Formats: sequence, structure tokens, C-alpha cells
Amino acid sequence: MSHYLPLSRVTRLVGISRHALQEMIRGGTLDTFDGMVELDELLRAFPAAKWDDDAEYRRVTEIKEKAFGKRVFERAMPDKEVLSARLIELGREYAATKALLMHYSQVLSWLDEKIDEIEEEQGPGEQGKETRHALHTVRAFIARNLGEMPPGAVQARALIAQERIMKIMSAHVTIQPSGHEFFVESNDTILEAALRAGVSLNYGCSNGNCGECRARLMSGEVKKVHAHDYVLSQSEKDSGVFLMCCCAAVNDVVLEAGVAGANDIQEQHLAAKVKSVEEFNSRLAVLHLQAPRSQRLRFLAGQAIRLSAQGASGLYAIASCPCEERHIEIHISHQPDDAFSGLLFGGLKAHDSVEVEGPYGEFVLEDVSARPIIFVAFGIGFAPIKSLIQHAMSLDLAESMDLHWLADEAGHYQNNLCRAWADALDNFTYVPHAQTADAETVLASIAGDYPDLHRYDVYAAGTAAQLQAARSVFLEHGLPEQRWSASSY
Ligand code: FES
Repeated sequence: MSHYLPLSRVTRLVGISRHALQEMIRGGTLDTFDGMVELDELLRAFPAAKWDDDAEYRRVTEIKEKAFGKRVFERAMPDKEVLSARLIELGREYAATKALLMHYSQVLSWLDEKIDEIEEEQGPGEQGKETRHALHTVRAFIARNLGEMPPGAVQARALIAQERIMKIMSAHVTIQPSGHEFFVESNDTILEAALRAGVSLNYGCSNGNCGECRARLMSGEVKKVHAHDYVLSQSEKDSGVFLMCCCAAVNDVVLEAGVAGANDIQEQHLAAKVKSVEEFNSRLAVLHLQAPRSQRLRFLAGQAIRLSAQGASGLYAIASCPCEERHIEIHISHQPDDAFSGLLFGGLKAHDSVEVEGPYGEFVLEDVSARPIIFVAFGIGFAPIKSLIQHAMSLDLAESMDLHWLADEAGHYQNNLCRAWADALDNFTYVPHAQTADAETVLASIAGDYPDLHRYDVYAAGTAAQLQAARSVFLEHGLPEQRWSASSY
């Protein structure tokens, strides 16, 4: 009996990135069938992997017993009804497998009886000697193979056990027609899990009132975990339509749902609160805002918002990722002609109210591309680039990501964060470039380091003049024009 696993689950079981797995498939070192990997093939391709069937169970036990309080434990576990539905499904699988094994066992004992019967028919004489010998060989072969564990059986058992525990703790979601994939973990709804994974599904209120998060279930099972006021028509229900903000995935599901582009998200107005202000130096501060619990800001990584408070306002790129739920991070440099920056450096403090409008702009990631990416940030242009990088990390699709940060007077004010990314990710490199009057030489040297620039996507943020210079240099070095994306401030 073959056992197949989807690629997304293999990446988790083996602990390597999806890109590394794709490379193995392209290079012929891992065979797949219909986007799935067969168990024996997985064991062959990763002979050194440690298949620890208790790891997930221990993780849950540790959460429960040590570090966290009851509330966090409950959050890490799936919803009770979802959990019981997953256990029921696992029980059904177990029952089907056991029934099959019992049937095989029955067939083997029939075979044994049949061999006895044929032996008796042959009698003890010379005539049936060859047949008796053949039957004896068959019986010995069956007994030996039933008595011995085949090579790799222990590993296979541990791997299947780990995969099964993973299936209890999470469900895999595929969105059609876009092809986005993500996992639903803990007691998240499908919408919450998608946003956490950087997939910008269509939605509005996120609490069951507007119906904008409607999706159609194509395969698998979902369960309503929050009541909703929005009323689905009977024909919608009959065709499998449900609200993603109110349902969790019971098992691996395929859904038909819309994914938003930059122009699909309507302008929103909300009153956020200042969480904190981090002044990195006299020129640069980072403002952390918290959106209200009932109205998180819907935006795509790389977009901008207008902030207003106490009569001052300004338009700024968002530096946080949509996956950060209610948290909004803005980088603001102190400029004499920017009244809001004056307010920020002049005493805006925690708990103050800030009006937020937006999002604006089309500087967003092409989020189904697996091409390698070069990010170029000039000074505070790091803000939208940071948002894009975090989004790209959540999607885990890009072959590689290289960040070049060309400093201005404010310096590399989040240098440690960039170094931490480079330390944590195999496919991320960070190159800080000191402030210079000759940026064109720096840009030429960056572009010159990529002889295969035609394979890359480049995302750049800076002043209009900086971007114009960078675009010329990159295009001269072979970057196709359509692979250049830029945002100016
Ligand atoms: S987002 Fe409004 S009903 Fe789901």
C-alpha cells in the first residue's frame, strides 16, 4: 500500500524550505507523483532525517505544562469540535486500515490451508516431490517475510505517526484558482490562518457581518466555529459556500476563493492607538500603532497609509506585515516640512489616538513568483521593503532574497533585525552599504554581482532621484523592465 504526502507537509516533516524541495525535484533527486511524495521515496531521499513521532506530542505537553497559561494553551490547540472531528476522521482511517489488515491476515491463513490441501493431494510419493518442494519454499518465504521487519519500517512508522499528529494539529488549505497554500493551526479560522501566512484573501469585517469572505468548498470539510449574522442563501449553502472568517478546516481542504490585489482593497478609516514610539536617533523614529480589536486595517505589504493627529497629518509606508494582525509599524524621519513628524518627535506618546486612512499604492509583491528577489532600500525606504520581506518570508516561495540597504544620515537603524533574518534563513542575505555621495558606483557594483540579473525581481524604495538612478543601472545590467518595481517617498 503506497502512502503519499503533499509537498507542503513534507517541508514541515523534513524541516526544509519549499524552495529547497523544489530544487531537489528539479534536479531529479526527489521523485513526485501529482505533487505528492511517496513514503519510500521520502525515506530514500532523506536517509539522515530524524523522524521523531513524539515531537509534536511533546511540544503540546510542554506548552501545557511549562511555559504558558491556560489561555495560550487553548489558543495553541484546535477548537474542541474541530479536534473531535479530526480524531473521528483519524479513527475512521484506523478502522479502515485495521479491517484491511484483518482481511490480509485472513487471506494468508486461507493460503496456508490451501497449501496444506495441495500437499495432501500430492501424497508422500516421488511423483509430487517437486510440487511439495515448491510449496514448502513458498510457505517458508511467507513465514520469513511476515516474521521480519522490512528495512526502513521503523522510520516509516515514525514518519507516518508524526504526519498523523501533524494532521490533528493542523489542516492544509489550497486556494483555487490562485494556487496559494497555507496551514490552519490552533483554533484559527481559515481567514485568520491565511492572513497569518501572508495570503491576502478577500474579506471585509472579519466577524461574520459582510459576507465578503465567502468561499466555496471544493474538497475536504470545514466547521463553523463562530456564529455569523450574514445570511447565506440556500443555493449558496447547497453549493458549498461558507464564510472563511467563521469556519475552521477540519481536514485538508481545497477552496475556491478570491485573492485581493492592490486595487481591490477599499479605503478604510479607523482610530488607532499609539502603542509606543521608538526614537532611534534625532532623525528617525518608529511609531507602533494598535488597530482597534473590532477593525483591523486591511492592506497589502508595501502599501502606505495617511496618519492624522492633533491637526497634523502625513502619508507613510507601512513597515509591518499584514500577518501582524492589529500591529501597524511606521518609520518616520524628522523633516521640517512634515508636521506629523514634528508631532512625533515633539511628544506623541503611548495611548494617544491617531486617525488612519488607507491603504494606498501598488508597490506590492508578486506573491506567486518563485523567482529570486533583490530588495534595494535607500534610507527610510527600508520601511516598505521591510514589509515586503516579511510578507515574502511568510509565503516562503522566493528562491532567494537579497537585501541591499543604502544608508542615509539615519544609518541602518534596524541593522540587528536584518542580521537576525540573515542568520535565521538560508536563502536570505543582507548587505548594508554605508552612506556615500557616490550611490551610482555602489549601485553598479551591486548590479554587477548578479550576472544572471534577468532571472530576478527587483523591489526598490527611495527618493524619486535615487530610484531613477537605480532603475537605469539595473536595466543596463540586464534586468527586464517588467521585473522592476519601485516606491518613492
Ligand atoms: S469578513 Fe465579513 S463576513 Fe467574513
